[in-house]
Amino acid sequence: MQVRQAKNRLSSSNVPAMILSLTGFMGCGKSSIGKVLQSRLGCRLIDLDDYIEAKAGKKIPDIFKDSGEPAFRKMEADALREIIGRENGNDTVILSLGGGAVMTPECFDLVKKHTKCVYLRATIDTLVATLSGYEAQRPMLKGDEDLRTKVSNLMAKRASTYEAAASYITDIDGISYEDTADDIIKYFSL
Ligand code: S3P
Repeated sequence: MQVRQAKNRLSSSNVPAMILSLTGFMGCGKSSIGKVLQSRLGCRLIDLDDYIEAKAGKKIPDIFKDSGEPAFRKMEADALREIIGRENGNDTVILSLGGGAVMTPECFDLVKKHTKCVYLRATIDTLVATLSGYEAQRPMLKGDEDLRTKVSNLMAKRASTYEAAASYITDIDGISYEDTADDIIKYFSL
């Protein structure tokens, strides 16, 4: 509570300049926690998926449908390179990544080299509960298997990369977005 009250009084100029990126599986709360951090810290928030959609003029499921995953991954890497190249280091920005971004080696390297990355780690149970009913918006969760199997299989391929990308790992199961944001603020002394 003390941390929250203190931070509400700070302007963005009090926050050390850095790109604070958020990674983690689909449904872990990257966008929502990004918004809480933005409001707590009074700094900018860039959502990589929103940026890609604005640039492409279409929704991510349509990009996958029309052009396929490799084309999406290229757009994702281009967008990330653009955003990171544009930041001048004078300002703090929260960068909410898509759940698969760090799986592309170029994106992993950009995140590692130019950002402080937080891995919002969640159990399969939490992810399945959050993603249930929202599969249609997530092209990576297409397929005939049940949701738990798809999430578990994809997470098995990704978990070690999320961990390797991270400067800080925070477990989000049962924790509110606000408390997770405060935990991140405390860890980085923002
Ligand atoms: C993806 C996650 C999505 C989006 C795209 C691919 C992934 O972002 O970038 O559908 O490969 O995990 P969210 O994690 O914000 O859902």
